[in-house]
Amino acid sequence: MKAFLLDRYAKNASLRLGDMPEPALGEDEVLVQIHAAGVNVLDAKIRSGGFKQILPYRMPLVLGHDLAGVVARVGPRVRQFKVGEEVYSRAPDFHIGSFAESIAIKESALAHKPKNLGMEEAASIPLVGLTAWQALVEKAKLKKGQKVFIQAGSGGVGTFAIQLAKHLGAIVATTTSAANVDWVQRLGADVVIDYKKDDFENILRDYDVVLNSQDGKTLEKSLRILKPGGQLISISGPPDPHFAKDIGAPGFVRLVMRLLSSSTRRKAKRLGVGYSFLFMKASGSQLRQITPLIESGAIRPVLDKVFPFESTNDAMAYVEKGRAKGKVVIKIK
Ligand SMILES: NC(=O)c1ccc[n+]([C@@H]2O[C@H](COP(=O)([O-])OP(=O)(O)OC[C@H]3O[C@@H](n4cnc5c(N)ncnc54)[C@H](OP(=O)(O)O)[C@@H]3O)[C@@H](O)[C@H]2O)c1
Repeated sequence: MKAFLLDRYAKNASLRLGDMPEPALGEDEVLVQIHAAGVNVLDAKIRSGGFKQILPYRMPLVLGHDLAGVVARVGPRVRQFKVGEEVYSRAPDFHIGSFAESIAIKESALAHKPKNLGMEEAASIPLVGLTAWQALVEKAKLKKGQKVFIQAGSGGVGTFAIQLAKHLGAIVATTTSAANVDWVQRLGADVVIDYKKDDFENILRDYDVVLNSQDGKTLEKSLRILKPGGQLISISGPPDPHFAKDIGAPGFVRLVMRLLSSSTRRKAKRLGVGYSFLFMKASGSQLRQITPLIESGAIRPVLDKVFPFESTNDAMAYVEKGRAKGKVVIKIK
């Protein structure tokens, strides 16, 4: 099969289009013929080596986390999927590789594709959808009437998280630049702040939840817009001791993570608010809970650009610029 491979960690390194053997199929795995793959900032960060302490991969590595496709074969212990069915997934860490013609995925990370979406739209959902779900539903337990600040409403995570928070009945504030203000409002955001013109800290007050995806300065300001008892969930760091424990990090990595987040945790404590770091996980069962929200129209995919398979490096470069309006997808079949 054809696949885009990373030979060594390097910033801006081109992925190499190569031939790989078809993936071996485990007993509880499903072989998926990939039709489309979603591109995420995580792919670019892995390529540059930014995650090698947390996710040490062996080279050459087929990159790519998100996919939609058709079941080609199933392992003997697979119960929920049949050959020919349409599926989508965020491939689990250490078993990634969606920038390729096929992938073997554990049944537990897979879900049937929403019926109302094409392959490209479906491939745009899993990683950002699960991130928003794990932040707002699982961690924050966001409730009707609560106020949530979702940074970067025009990005992959932001476009999904705004719609999910509105579906849950929350009041949503977000940031974006002037050109995106109108369409982010149409996604459902109640308060849209042009971050290049206005400082959100002067506008937002007494929030219940912040989904932080930007830099340290933004995080610090976000702590101050929370009401006492509110929570800040960060997906852009710093990692906290719970996360280090969760991934079974070795002693020195745990210590580094404790130190990296100590100032943030101290500031949060002083303000009487909660701080936690989220590193999203693959989950077929949570994707299955997201699917009906898409099929009912409560959440719609937002696609910026679709690149052909041979332009996978251009798709990565586009995402890395940080200006995507929604998601970037590679069409494979
Ligand atoms: N920990 C996890 O599990 C996890 C999961 C998913 C993502 N993440 C991280 O979360 C971050 C966002 O991911 P993403 O996929 O949403 O990224 P993305 O789609 O690449 O975000 C691009 C968007 O961000 C907006 N933006 C850039 N700077 C901004 C700022 N200072 N304030 C407000 N908006 C800004 C841009 O809008 P303008 O062009 O208008 O500036 C653009 O629309 C990344 O760092 C990613 O690695 C972490």
